[in-house]
Amino acid sequence: MKDTKQKSDESIIRLNKYLATAGIASRRKADEMIQEGKVKVNGKIVVDLGVKIDPVKDKIFVNEKQVVLLDELVYIVFNKPKDCITTTRDERGRITVMDYLRVKQRVFPIGRLDRSTSGVLLLTNDGEFANRLMHPKYEVKKAYKVALDNPLTAEDSRKLSEGIRLSDERTKPAKVFFMPGGKNQVVGIVIHEGRNRQVHRMFEALGYKVEKLDRVGYGDITYEGLPRGRWRYLTKGEIRMLMKNAGIVINR
Ligand code: URA
Repeated sequence: MKDTKQKSDESIIRLNKYLATAGIASRRKADEMIQEGKVKVNGKIVVDLGVKIDPVKDKIFVNEKQVVLLDELVYIVFNKPKDCITTTRDERGRITVMDYLRVKQRVFPIGRLDRSTSGVLLLTNDGEFANRLMHPKYEVKKAYKVALDNPLTAEDSRKLSEGIRLSDERTKPAKVFFMPGGKNQVVGIVIHEGRNRQVHRMFEALGYKVEKLDRVGYGDITYEGLPRGRWRYLTKGEIRMLMKNAGIVINR
């Protein structure tokens, strides 16, 4: 805690602002609460309206209940390049998605993409949202462009669309797309699950080798307009749409 005469750094804020940001009351009402002796900083009642606090170090209580600032929730789409790993930290010093992002919140990836896979990766600090999107019950679709070592046959495409047996269990029906005018060595596939290395395993089970894998969409979010290695915040409309996909009812 600092008094008003002390020099303050960027993170130091006035107590009434802290209380207002935490949603306790307006700044004016917060001033009244301070003057009424309802606010304690580090165990001591504070009545000086000029007091500034450090939100990281100081402990603030109103009516004996601790007041914490919740991190603002953020939702991000990243166009992941290959050779970058989907963890927040890597002990072997390899490039991770965090090397590309510049956000103050502690975001984490929603699911994972293999190191060699490129494309759409969503990140957030909203745990509930992430859990829902990953839950098989909500069957959020994921679309991939797959380059194979051999042309996909019509028979194998039919097998994929009916579901195939992997070591753990049977895959749900997938949608397969052939590229017009192509040689069927590059195909599109949409799945509604997110099992470990699922796309690789599906094609490998049929005797193909996946040479390149690119996730072009997650739900209705694509990387259109976003070069590889770049990210952006999702719009409110996009967040709303994904929440709807994941069965989250929003009143905001
Ligand atoms: N399926 C895979 O095989 N790899 C990925 O990265 C994502 C889905």
